[in-house]
Amino acid sequence: MTKKALIFGITGQDGSYLSRLLLKKNYEVHGVKRRSSSFNTSRIDNIYQDPFVKKKKLILHYGDITDSNSVFSIIKKVNPNEIYNLAAQSHVAVSFEIPEYTTNTDALGTLRILDSILRINKKIKFYQAGSSEMFGKVMEVPQTENTPFYPRSPYGVAKVYSHWITKNYRESYKIFASNGILFNHESPLRGETFVTKKIVQGLCRIKFGKQKKLFLGNLYSKRDWGHAEDYVMAIWKILQQKNADDFVICTGKQFTIKQFLNMTARKLKMSLSWKGKGLNEKAFIKNKPIIEIKKKYFRPSEVDKLVGNYRKAKKRLNWKPKHDLNSLIDDMINYELKLLEK
Ligand code: NAP
Ligand code: GDD
Repeated sequence: MTKKALIFGITGQDGSYLSRLLLKKNYEVHGVKRRSSSFNTSRIDNIYQDPFVKKKKLILHYGDITDSNSVFSIIKKVNPNEIYNLAAQSHVAVSFEIPEYTTNTDALGTLRILDSILRINKKIKFYQAGSSEMFGKVMEVPQTENTPFYPRSPYGVAKVYSHWITKNYRESYKIFASNGILFNHESPLRGETFVTKKIVQGLCRIKFGKQKKLFLGNLYSKRDWGHAEDYVMAIWKILQQKNADDFVICTGKQFTIKQFLNMTARKLKMSLSWKGKGLNEKAFIKNKPIIEIKKKYFRPSEVDKLVGNYRKAKKRLNWKPKHDLNSLIDDMINYELKLLEK
């Protein structure tokens, strides 16, 4: 029997990789997209199917996770086997600017889905896109499923609520509701204001004379970066388990933003020399400043270091990352260079 999946957040980075994976696995894929004044489906355009195609495998519905009515009625209409909640205001820095909206989407949005499942069909399996941001000011290194949370942003706090309400609906109502605790994952389709994409895109453009400078914030925080393609495989596997559970998904390797930047520059054969400290730190190519630090990109409170341990996922999901940071950066650079060639 063909399985049906419903993805909230299908137009995002992970939504596009996950829908491709599920289509390959012969699912009928339903996705929720928001109404917007300009097209917001560029990441899924190459799998889009005309609404008049018979036996369509990808079906989009207008909806919004802040709107209980649309959440409830889409779930009722589709009655899927699996729901993936990837929808979120996912930018940590922006969550300080719009904390109430972030909470409505990233915390209450999850509750709206869970409560609809409870009232419509308790057999629907549910995946919640949790985040390593929940570990925030980390209480142990590396972070595992048992590490206590200490979120450092409205985004992180909202995700902690979602984590616990997912667990609560699992324990209270026996719903198959699982949390992924995913560390940073990137790809050519990463949003342009996240630091990896900003660096890769910025350096490629500078190399080809399309941009003069790149402005960044804190270069010394450390992240555990994986590839979105690997991580959506883990997400799918989490819902194929016999029992619902929570899983850390990461690479176990940690790098600073500056290391990421220097690796990208080396691959592009751009020879950077660094001078100065703090807000005066700059990177030069032949005496020309190309990277500068701006206060605007620092956050009111920072997550200084993240690194996870994926032992449980390896054992129980038989999952491990295929990409490392090198192949991730190569993939991102190749995509950017192809765009520039066009
Ligand atoms: P993303 O590219 O920002 O995508 C977010 C998706 O959510 C987009 O489809 C967006 O729609 C949708 N969305 C936002 N607000 C919505 C609302 N009110 N109603 C309905 N849909 C809404 O994020 P991502 O990187 O794919 O991440 C997917 C999920 O994993 C997010 O929940 C994120 O917080 C979480 N996560 C991500 C990472 C990571 O490193 N990427 C790590 C841990 C957890 P539009 O396209 O219309 O904006
Ligand atoms: N975005 C951004 N822009 N970040 C910068 C910049 C800049 O110009 N300069 C330095 N940074 C630093 C940030 O201060 C942060 O320490 C680090 O780069 C990573 O920032 P992001 O790429 O914005 O990612 P994030 O770690 O805050 O959040 C991402 O990962 C989370 C998982 O840990 C997002 O994808 C979240 O949705 C996700 O949950």
